Amino acid sequence: MIKIAPSVLSADFANMGQAVQALVGWGADYVHFDVMDGSFVPAITFGPAMCKAVRPYTKLPVDVHLMVEHPDTQVEAFAVAGADIITFHVEADCHAHRTLQHIHALGRKAGVVLCPATPVCMVENLLDSCDMILLMSVNPGAGGQSFIPGTLDKIRALREMAQARGIALDIEVDGGINPETAKPCIQVGANVLVAGNSVFTAPNPKDVIAQMRGTIV
Ligand code: DX5
Ligand code: ZN
Repeated sequence: MIKIAPSVLSADFANMGQAVQALVGWGADYVHFDVMDGSFVPAITFGPAMCKAVRPYTKLPVDVHLMVEHPDTQVEAFAVAGADIITFHVEADCHAHRTLQHIHALGRKAGVVLCPATPVCMVENLLDSCDMILLMSVNPGAGGQSFIPGTLDKIRALREMAQARGIALDIEVDGGINPETAKPCIQVGANVLVAGNSVFTAPNPKDVIAQMRGTIV
């Protein structure tokens, strides 16, 4: 099943509760929450307090993408704030397996994220500890960038790696996703699509989400 996770990085920060509330009516499956610390990536967005503030506005799973240094120090605060899924960058954590265990011990789904330059072999030994793996199709740190076509080979390789091990893994792709780029990502094995700009700038976000899922042309 294809899941769509609109990124609130592209929402109106002054009205985040309303933005999150609208997603279920648009047909979204997750709320994608882009946390940036100004160190792992130059931008700073929001932290656990924003997650806690919007939590009452939606029953959709909150999918937190930690673009932060030392992610293990942040996972508990986001779990307490209401995150359902917490992903973090392998490039920011030399103890990724332990951090995955920590997130699971907090009762949340856990996953790792790979930057465009990071090969999928980096997660070969983490596949059985992840509920989801997020492949960045832009360089992290900003919305509205163009899709990096080389990501398709990474999606395909990761899906083949998981299938070879009999692991039913969610593969999420994030960055520059719209109805045009969504299709090839799904064809090679992605099943969770993050989309910020293409959804929040659309005149009819509900149609864009349906087009990405493939339910309307
Ligand atoms: C970038 C974020 C992405 C991004 C996606 O660092 O991780 O989630 O906001 O936004 P669009 O869909 O605008 O590329
Ligand atoms: Zn993201």
